[in-house]
Amino acid sequence: MPNDVKPADPRVETLLARMTVEEKVGQLGMFADMVRPFAPDVNPEANVRNAGEVLEQVRAGRVGALFNGVGAVQGREIQRVAVEESRLGIPVLLAADVIHGMRTVFPIPLGEAASFEPALAERTARATAVEATAAGLHWTFAPAVDIARDQRWGRGAEGAGEDTVLGSAFAAARVRGFQGGDLRAADSLLATPKHFVAYGAVAAGMDYNYVEISEGTLHDVHLPPFKAALDAGALAVMTAFNDINGVPASANHALLTGLLREQWQFPGLVVSDYTADMELVAHGYAEDDRDATRRAFGAGMDMSMQSGFYAAHLPALVESGEVPMAALDEAVRRVLSVKAAIGLFDDPYRSLDPARESDTSHLAAHEALARDAARRSIVLLRNEGGVLPLRRDARIALVGPFARDTDNIEGCWTLFGDRSRYVALEAGLRAALPAGATASLEVVDGCSMEEAIDGGIEAAVAAARRAEVVVLALGEPQRYSGEAQSRTRITLPPVQQALAEAVAATGTPLVVLLRNGRALALEGAVRDAAAILVTWFLGSQTGHAVADVLFGDYSPSGRLPVSFPHDSGQQPFFYNHPRTGRPETPDMSEFKARWREYPNTALYPFGHGLGYAPVEYGPTVVSAPVIAPDGVLEAWATVSNRGTRAVEEVVQLYVHDRVGSRVRPVRELKDFRKIVMQPGESREVRFHLQAAQLAFTRADGRFGVEPGRFDAWVAPSATAGTPAGFTLA
Ligand code: GLC
Repeated sequence: MPNDVKPADPRVETLLARMTVEEKVGQLGMFADMVRPFAPDVNPEANVRNAGEVLEQVRAGRVGALFNGVGAVQGREIQRVAVEESRLGIPVLLAADVIHGMRTVFPIPLGEAASFEPALAERTARATAVEATAAGLHWTFAPAVDIARDQRWGRGAEGAGEDTVLGSAFAAARVRGFQGGDLRAADSLLATPKHFVAYGAVAAGMDYNYVEISEGTLHDVHLPPFKAALDAGALAVMTAFNDINGVPASANHALLTGLLREQWQFPGLVVSDYTADMELVAHGYAEDDRDATRRAFGAGMDMSMQSGFYAAHLPALVESGEVPMAALDEAVRRVLSVKAAIGLFDDPYRSLDPARESDTSHLAAHEALARDAARRSIVLLRNEGGVLPLRRDARIALVGPFARDTDNIEGCWTLFGDRSRYVALEAGLRAALPAGATASLEVVDGCSMEEAIDGGIEAAVAAARRAEVVVLALGEPQRYSGEAQSRTRITLPPVQQALAEAVAATGTPLVVLLRNGRALALEGAVRDAAAILVTWFLGSQTGHAVADVLFGDYSPSGRLPVSFPHDSGQQPFFYNHPRTGRPETPDMSEFKARWREYPNTALYPFGHGLGYAPVEYGPTVVSAPVIAPDGVLEAWATVSNRGTRAVEEVVQLYVHDRVGSRVRPVRELKDFRKIVMQPGESREVRFHLQAAQLAFTRADGRFGVEPGRFDAWVAPSATAGTPAGFTLA
């Protein structure tokens, strides 16, 4: 088992026996690493200490871990002080938020999920781990595995979208990638699935808001990606800021201890989110700081990030007997065991090798991977009249605030990206054009991200008139998504919409390149453009990856991991919603579940995406009419590439449970596979569906299957395909 920290390292017990209470609580504290170059502001200021004070605390044995500093040379110095100058010589863990790339930046996790290729995410996470550990890190606060069913929430950008099966596959893949096969290897990066749990379910999509959720939705939708990440060997979990039905996640004994420790037997450490223990007071869940400490620790939070609450209050709580010494020892044992598991007691200077840090020989390979990951993440929503791919000799106007921009390439969670290597759209397009042909590319900003430019629209319109096709680069500035970036309207900034309307009025065909950290509600000329490509935030190689797709060197193979609604007001909108008693009918009759303005559908559903050849699906076929409760069924469809070029197709298996003891979702993804299809090729794509995959949290509160009728679809999206019925005996 990769996550097995047993048999316990004997050095852990020897140390524990020698530690004072102060040294024990010291191991349970993590602080901002002000000793090394520190990541720019990603968190509010709290409990700030300068470099000298941090090192002094390390020397006193009062620091278990430091975070968000970087660099192997100074990292060695921190570790030297810990190992040689503190009384017990316990090494510190060096952590950071390395979410989708270190120096080389890969697509935001939501974008990468659109590839529907967990193996790709495993490779980018591995490359990230190689770069992060070379920069003096042992531990990352990733992957974010929150399921995001409300696109107003800005942190959906950090996860894998709205679906649990897709999210679980990406969660596990990222953990495997970060940690690699051997936790002790110098390039293994400890992974931390976060934020435990249901952070993506915050009310109204507002970050840090409350969560009201049923047990069934919690267990069937939000918990499985954590389980998948832990089964893949993750040895740390981060608690969430939100409360769950009134109990803050960071003081939630039922979840942190009952579920995580007792039921799931999680052997690793639980770390708070940034000052989440402190925030129990603001939640009104704790009387004061001491009470907050008691509640967080008592619930099962081993390590406290930044507040300093454990150091300040745990000793007195142990002294008074409110926190048993055995409980303190158990938490310290877990932190020390993780340090042992990653080899810090054998080599405290692990991942702190300046020679490795200055070696750049891997960068070319990582750049190639970043380009491939980026183009595999792009989703082609629409391609009227085959406007794409573009001819290389076409007169192209590249218009929009993202055309030359390099400040909105990395996305919301890149702290240490090498900006000198970012490729803007213009640079990528020019590099793809033959020498001499670059004059046929005219580039105009038109407006800035949120404001008009004098004469901008006029210049864009003039360029559009001269061009055969306009590539319109629009979207959200990158600070619109990520932490604390919730939106009420998930639309483009008005000035960009105005630019699109003006350019569209020229009649020149429009290819829209969307940059976005969430699903957007597309309007007017953007919605009606001849072609629309969703490009998320693609990272370092943005320009090259987009050019690969625009000119047809790569046929787009991404599929939506989030539903694109008609309108913001539909949120939360997700494809696998429970059935209503008054479903909408095609004739849109009265008294049905719909809005006055829009039907209860997506503009582009989950799973949707096109390539450069039409692909057809035959009806779904199942191998037997009945499946036993412990049985397996095969489901397949004939999938045909009717075009003249090879494409990659994401074939998806969905199921619907017709009657349940709780109202069941209209459809649920059960499996998916990306396949390469040659021109003219037809093939049966088969899935094995285990009866166990039909289980859910039933009305009796237990997780299990229920007999009855089901439908299965082998389909290209969550709303397509012709189903086959079967019965679970
Ligand atoms: C934050 C985030 C969390 C991050 C942590 C450390 O506030 O919620 O995702 O890992 O701080 O920077």
